[in-house]
Amino acid sequence: MSVIIAPSILAADFANLERDSKMVNNSDADWFHIDIMDGVFVPNISFGMPVLAAIQKHATKPLDVHLMIVDPDRYIETFASLGAKILTVHFEACDHLHRTIQKIKSCGMKAGLALNPHTPINNLSSIIQDLDLVCIMSVNPGFGGQSFIQNTYNKVKELKNLIIHHKSACLVEIDGGVTDTNAAQLISCGADILVAGSYVFSAENPEEKIKLLKEI
Ligand code: DX5
Ligand code: ZN
Repeated sequence: MSVIIAPSILAADFANLERDSKMVNNSDADWFHIDIMDGVFVPNISFGMPVLAAIQKHATKPLDVHLMIVDPDRYIETFASLGAKILTVHFEACDHLHRTIQKIKSCGMKAGLALNPHTPINNLSSIIQDLDLVCIMSVNPGFGGQSFIQNTYNKVKELKNLIIHHKSACLVEIDGGVTDTNAAQLISCGADILVAGSYVFSAENPEEKIKLLKEI
């Protein structure tokens, strides 16, 4: 399987969401990565449901929704109705994680779990078989355009071993600071999905950057 590329709309031009969504549709990208921030779990507020509905109107590829919010259970049905195909919650935000993951699946979505940079992989041994995706944060969540944390490579390898050990079908996603300088090593460590925000959208030709990542 070739690597899945998920451009992060957080880095798009919000005054031109239709144009930027169509760019992703026409590119080699596989998914839309949508970052929802509440200003509580992370020190930033991105956008909420009306903006997601606007993106959904134009997007022809799966919506990979990354919730950086406290108490995400409150909004699972809402995100399903807004067309999310993959719904990712944070390990650090869920007291009853197993219940949350089951609820996401019962609403017809794939269930993802994101880990902050400080959260060890070995926390996942009792839940890995229930997950469709683990998102390893390679920056501290909250902002685009930050520098990639080098320890991510070790975490990806450790996660891949855990997945193999438990015979899980879970995919490995990397989010934060992804560029053409770290993509190859991430893939060789076991990454299945690369999220890229500023690398794609700050380029003069975003489609070309997506293609470059896709062909690594
Ligand atoms: C960070 C978000 C990321 C972000 C990535 O909290 O989860 O998805 O948009 O942006 P870049 O690729 O610019 O680090
Ligand atoms: Zn994200």
